Amino acid sequence: MSAPGVQGGPRSHRVLVVHHTPSPTLQTMLDAVVDGLAQADVEAVVRPALTCSVVDALEADGYVLGGPVNLGMMAGALKHFFDQIYYPCLDATVGRPFGLYLHGDNDAAGALRDIGKIVTGLRWTQVTDHVVTYGPLVNEQRDALVNLGGTVGVRSSER
Ligand SMILES: Cc1cc2nc3c(=O)[nH]c(=O)nc-3n(C[C@H](O)[C@H](O)[C@H](O)COP(=O)(O)O)c2cc1C
Repeated sequence: MSAPGVQGGPRSHRVLVVHHTPSPTLQTMLDAVVDGLAQADVEAVVRPALTCSVVDALEADGYVLGGPVNLGMMAGALKHFFDQIYYPCLDATVGRPFGLYLHGDNDAAGALRDIGKIVTGLRWTQVTDHVVTYGPLVNEQRDALVNLGGTVGVRSSER
């Protein structure tokens, strides 16, 4: 039986999905990413950002980060995750693949800039285009999120 929050069987490669999901649209985005990870046949460890631990981050082969844009920034929950894991992961997770999705109503530039600085500091590797959406989700965007999960999954399983 899988642990709570863990989808998939006992596979050797693991992707940590760190998300803040305060709306139905963001839940649909998260579900699409998890669908993509399932297609890549990796273990998806799905953690709300406020509950995600340093051990979760250290044990992952790759990462998907996702959440809303609030007040021109990443959600505080995602910032809290980075605040917790930054120094413990700084040398231990160099080069690991990551993907990012964001949702807002008009402007994600500040969140993209700030997350970009942090993942540059961590020296994680962006392996697919960020998916940034505004307003209701359309099918092409859902497909892009499935692809994002799948790509991070494949790249994580190569490590
Ligand atoms: C206090 C607050 C600040 C927000 N600031 C931004 C912002 O700076 N840029 C943006 O694109 N969206 C912003 N939003 C919109 C949120 O990102 C959006 O409500 C959230 O992603 C959920 O979207 P949904 O209702 O379409 O599912 C803000 C929302 C709130 C409540």
